Parts: sequence; C-alpha cells; structure tokens
Amino acid sequence: MRILLTGAAGFIGSYVARALLEKGYEVIGLDNLNAYYDVRLKFYRLNTLLTQKGFHFFPIDISDWVSLAALFKRIGPLDAVINLAARAGVRASLEEPLLYHHTNATGSLHLLELMRHYQVPRYVLASTSSLYAGTPLPFTEEQPVNTPISPYAASKKAAEVMAYTYHKHYGIHVSVLRYFTVYGPAGRPDMSIFRFIEWVYRGQAVEIYGDGRQSRDFTFVEDVAQATVAALRLEGYAILNIGGGRAPTSLLEVVEFIERFLNKKAKLHFLPPQGADLVHTQADISRAQTLLGWHPQVDFYDGLARTLNWHLSNRALLDNLTL
Ligand SMILES: NC(=O)c1ccc[n+]([C@@H]2O[C@H](COP(=O)([O-])OP(=O)(O)OC[C@H]3O[C@@H](n4cnc5c(N)ncnc54)[C@H](O)[C@@H]3O)[C@@H](O)[C@H]2O)c1
Repeated sequence: MRILLTGAAGFIGSYVARALLEKGYEVIGLDNLNAYYDVRLKFYRLNTLLTQKGFHFFPIDISDWVSLAALFKRIGPLDAVINLAARAGVRASLEEPLLYHHTNATGSLHLLELMRHYQVPRYVLASTSSLYAGTPLPFTEEQPVNTPISPYAASKKAAEVMAYTYHKHYGIHVSVLRYFTVYGPAGRPDMSIFRFIEWVYRGQAVEIYGDGRQSRDFTFVEDVAQATVAALRLEGYAILNIGGGRAPTSLLEVVEFIERFLNKKAKLHFLPPQGADLVHTQADISRAQTLLGWHPQVDFYDGLARTLNWHLSNRALLDNLTL
C-alpha cells in the first residue's frame, strides 16, 4: 500500500509514519516544516525517518494548490491519504484565524479535490476533541458539535464536513479521528506535558492557565498511531474518538508526577483561564473499540514516565529549545 502522509515531521505524524513502515507500507511524507514551534524538533523527528526504507519526503505546503497538484502528478497512484498536517494550536488560532482556516480547511479541501481527480479511495483526517466544547461528558461521536470556541476547532469541523461531501459524491472512504490530548516522547513544545517537564527540569516557572484542576483525557502517541493505521481499513464515513480510555487527569496531577519523577519542586505560576480551552475532556471510545478492534495499551503514568525519560536522554536537543 502507498500512503500519502501529511504532517509527517509533526509529533503524531512521525509515529504514524513509523507504524506504517513497520507494517510494510510505502510512505510518502510531506510537511511544510513551518516555525510555529522550534523546527529543530521537526528535523529531529524527520531524521529518524529519512534513513528508513520505504519512506520518501517532500517539503510541501498543503495550502499551496500548485505544488500539491504537482506532487500528486509526480508520485502516481496512492491507496490512501492520511491528513495530519495542520496548524494545531487552540490559543494561537485566535491570533491567526485566517492561517488556521487556510491550512486546516482549505488545505484539506485541496487534498480531497486531488484525491477525487486521481481516484484515491481512502482518506483519514485528524480531527480534535476541541470540537466538543460545551457538550456533556463523556464525549460521544453522536453529540452535535456545532459550537466550536476556537478558530482551530471551527476549521477542523469544516474539514470534517467537507470530507463528508466528498464521501457522499465520490465514494471516498473517510475516517475522521478525533484525537484527545496526545502526549509522548518528542512531543509538541506548545502543549502542557512537554512544557511542564521542561519548566520543572529547568527550574523555570510552570505556567498554568486557571487553577490547574482542569483535566484531560491524555492519549499516548503510540496508541494514537495504531488507531490511525487501523482506520485505513474502514469503509464509508466514520467519526471516531481516539482517547485514553480512562478517567481524565488534572494538570496539577501531571505536575505532581513530574516533580516526584525528577525530584524537583515546581514553581507554579497561575494565569487567568483561557477562553478557547475546554475545562474537562473525556472520550467515549466504544465506537473505535467496535469498529477498529482498538483499545489504548499504554497506562497514563507509564507513558508519562517514558516521556520524562526521553526528556532526560535528549538534553543536547532540549537545553536550547525554545518553548
Ligand atoms: N497533539 C494533539 O493532542 C492533537 C489533538 C487533536 C488533534 N490533533 C491533530 O493531529 C494532527 C497532528 O498534530 P500534532 O500534534 O502532531 O501537531 P504538529 O504540529 O506536531 O504536526 C503537524 C505537522 O503539520 C505540518 N504542517 C502544518 N501546516 C502545514 C501545511 N500547510 N502543509 C504541510 N504541512 C503542514 C507542521 O509543520 C507539523 O509538522 C493535527 O491535524 C492536529 O490538529 C492533535
């Protein structure tokens, strides 16, 4: 199978690429390597992939129609597109809504339009738990999600429904995966777990928006990658929650574990709550269990310990990394 994987140098994308290569797929990775966060991390991830047989990489922007169309023409037949390329910052999307829309909604439409043209039968789209703002816990896929509170969430909703239109008219099989706060080694430096670990390790103030009691259904990145690869075999149009499958964990509990692991005291610095953030998230993952036979394998604190060990083993990269 030949897969076009967008966002291949990203956090989740690099794990999905590895999981695909392990299964013997050919992976055509693309990424525009933008500087939303420190690009050294993207090159670090990419370097681990470039040496692997079956992996090809193209530095292309999905919102650049001309370059993307030329890529589809050049690479030939594909079995599927997995679209993980996105601007993914909830708060940052309030600053740059046009960029978020252009990347996440228009970029996604570019892919669908080229899939239609080249008759690519399968599309897996990374979507988000952020869509569930204002709905009751635990979040189920049947709940209407028409009240996004960030341009990021709104742009993902646009991508979801446009994929539905392409499924309906052109028979493209679509799996929309709503990921719930993903964490793991070589993560994203704009996300809480990465920052908390670095701030505690470096002895810097740990910034917490709100009182720290907000909680997340954290999901280990390898579990997310397994679900994403499994979704390639689904037919029709399906929306699936990909969450941790356990009670959510509060940010304060995360910091306490990091303190104990590193044997360092965190300097907590509380800031006003952010209006674009959800207070709690919790996924009902029964649909993913039924349709994919998938269940998360990694316990939250085991995953957190693995993440901490990665931070301890990669100080040359991390000491100068901008948070
Ligand atoms: N990490 C999470 O907790 C989480 C939760 C829900 C949904 N998601 C979604 O999962 C996907 C992957 O997220 P991630 O956490 O790995 O983020 P990431 O930022 O690490 O990865 C996204 C990658 O896409 C690339 N990219 C951005 N715009 C692009 C463009 N126009 N053209 C080509 N490449 C582009 C970036 O350079 C980056 O490498 C995203 O779609 C994100 O919205 C992530």
